[in-house]
Amino acid sequence: MAVSDVMIKSTGSYVPEKILTNKDLEKIVETSDEWIRTMTGISTRRIAAESEATSDLAYRSGELALKNGGIGPEELDLIIVATITPDMFFPSTACIVQDRLKAKNAVAMDVNAACSGYIFSLVVGSTFLKTETYKNALIIGAEKLTAITDWQDRNTCVLFGDGAGAALLVPSDGSGKLLAFDLGSDGGYGDMLYIPGGGSRNPATQQTVEDRLHYIKMNGHPLFKIAVNKMRETFKRSLKKAGLKPEDISVLITHQANMRIIDSLRSYLKVPEEKVFVNIEKYGNTSAASIAIAFHEACESGFIKRGDIVGLAAFGGGLTWGSAIIEY
Ligand code: ACO
Repeated sequence: MAVSDVMIKSTGSYVPEKILTNKDLEKIVETSDEWIRTMTGISTRRIAAESEATSDLAYRSGELALKNGGIGPEELDLIIVATITPDMFFPSTACIVQDRLKAKNAVAMDVNAACSGYIFSLVVGSTFLKTETYKNALIIGAEKLTAITDWQDRNTCVLFGDGAGAALLVPSDGSGKLLAFDLGSDGGYGDMLYIPGGGSRNPATQQTVEDRLHYIKMNGHPLFKIAVNKMRETFKRSLKKAGLKPEDISVLITHQANMRIIDSLRSYLKVPEEKVFVNIEKYGNTSAASIAIAFHEACESGFIKRGDIVGLAAFGGGLTWGSAIIEY
């Protein structure tokens, strides 16, 4: 008989020590602390050290989630790392993390769904558990976005930061459940947010480097509108599948891309401000790590308690979007 419910047993996160403030950015590009705070809600972001790669951040967050869950690395069945900043093309970052964790018995794979990566991983991991293929899964959202940030482009460099968050999924003991989810993609919008160089379409050459093709390119203004619409639609679909109304949500955590996008979803759903967990001011947009870090911090601080109905919603490059309703 298949497992009927999956719960988040424990969480972890890791952010690098170095803090880059808006004032620091004023010295790099033509911008202002006031513009960044007003337009995005971001005050600071974390920057990984040159010696730190995405797998280092992922490993630290995963290790903490395992410790908090009380399971040893050899008991782990599945590791999924959601990232758009892998250490290298291959091996996957998940394989590197598996080795660091000494999780010898785990299958390891990456998921590339940009900022929706954590929700995609939650669904992939839960599905393996529900079919009883595996008995547990460590899902990690991890990014070193500052490695692919164009520090000459003020439209993007003020937005991103580095970090990682993890969650350990196990069959439900009755106290938690994944109630519903909804995922979506539209590759037709791929060029709204992408890195043109370095892949098989435009392999790295001196010219691609000179043309700055290895950095994030973003069409921010139209993306903003699409993000707002897609997050509304996906969240409504998850609510409907769960048979819930917005007022049933105890805590709302959305992708931390822009405070105005978070506010727009919150006011559309009429969820009161005090139910929304936000940490964008500290970390900026950490893509796949964003909801993962926020979820861990919300659990640690008591913002989320066992039994709470937690709503998650994200959108990102691809384009991709997704939402989930969890009974924690
Ligand atoms: N400092 C000062 N001025 C700036 C800056 C900056 N850092 N960046 C842009 N501006 C200027 C622009 O040049 C423009 O000036 P102009 O009117 O003289 O031409 C003005 O500010 C307005 O720019 P817009 O791009 O139209 O501003 P907008 O309201 O769209 O806000 C922002 C920009 C914050 C980037 C917004 O579009 C946004 O958040 N978009 C969504 C981003 C996002 O969520 N990305 C997806 C997830 S990331 C992932 O998947 C990896």
